[in-house]
Amino acid sequence: MNKPSIEIGADAEQLAVKARDLVAQLVHEAVRVRGRFTIALSGGSTPKRFHTLLAETEGLPWAQMHFFWGDDRHVPPDHADSNYRMARETLFDHVPQIPKENIHRIHTEEREAATAAELYETELKTFFGKDAWPRFDVMFLGLGPDGHTASLFPGTRGIAEKQRWVMAQWVEKLKTDRITLTPPVLNASRAVLFLVQGEDKASAVHEVLEGSQPVEEIPARIVRPDPGGLWWLLDAPAASKLSDATLGRKKVR
Ligand code: 6PG
Repeated sequence: MNKPSIEIGADAEQLAVKARDLVAQLVHEAVRVRGRFTIALSGGSTPKRFHTLLAETEGLPWAQMHFFWGDDRHVPPDHADSNYRMARETLFDHVPQIPKENIHRIHTEEREAATAAELYETELKTFFGKDAWPRFDVMFLGLGPDGHTASLFPGTRGIAEKQRWVMAQWVEKLKTDRITLTPPVLNASRAVLFLVQGEDKASAVHEVLEGSQPVEEIPARIVRPDPGGLWWLLDAPAASKLSDATLGRKKVR
């Protein structure tokens, strides 16, 4: 596995700009080489500014860009908790050039979360082909204070999944079902980008990058793309518990 690239933004805005610049570069590279770009978006609140900046970016080949999700909540697509709704409001509503068939949402309105997972897995196999793991150009991930990423929460079955591409799983702490990509899919990506901000994430960032706890306790530690690249885009507060060695800083004499 390649050593992760760690980039620190002084604040949330600089961090979002770094994420947009890196993704824009990966978009142009993917379209030049393969004629299309695929990204799995993450949910929560951190990606919102990145989405807005991406929507304002000139010269992107929107018609060749395909949008998926790393996970979503088992709620209707217009629900306040929906990751799809957040992306629609912060990105798709501002970029009419994106063909609607390029937006591959998880059908979270299905009565059974397992049905939504099966439908999404079928859509992925149709798009990427079913004979090898799907290789997303960008897997965009967040990190929870408990070390979860996508909807791989501590103690959940999805952490150990080796066959399925997509899983529905009950998350006891949230008392809700989630639909999530599985670790082999995350790790098959050409580039995994963690975007993490805020002091409340500093301990989890330290545990993932410098700790040795089992993945069942810190699920984000399972994300080790190979041969893909791994970027950690952090604001200063989220990076505040990392050692100088990890940050590649020369010790100040
Ligand atoms: C979700 C996300 C989840 C998120 C983290 C961080 O569905 O909630 O995919 O993995 O990235 O919980 O969320 P915040 O950005 O809101 O802190």
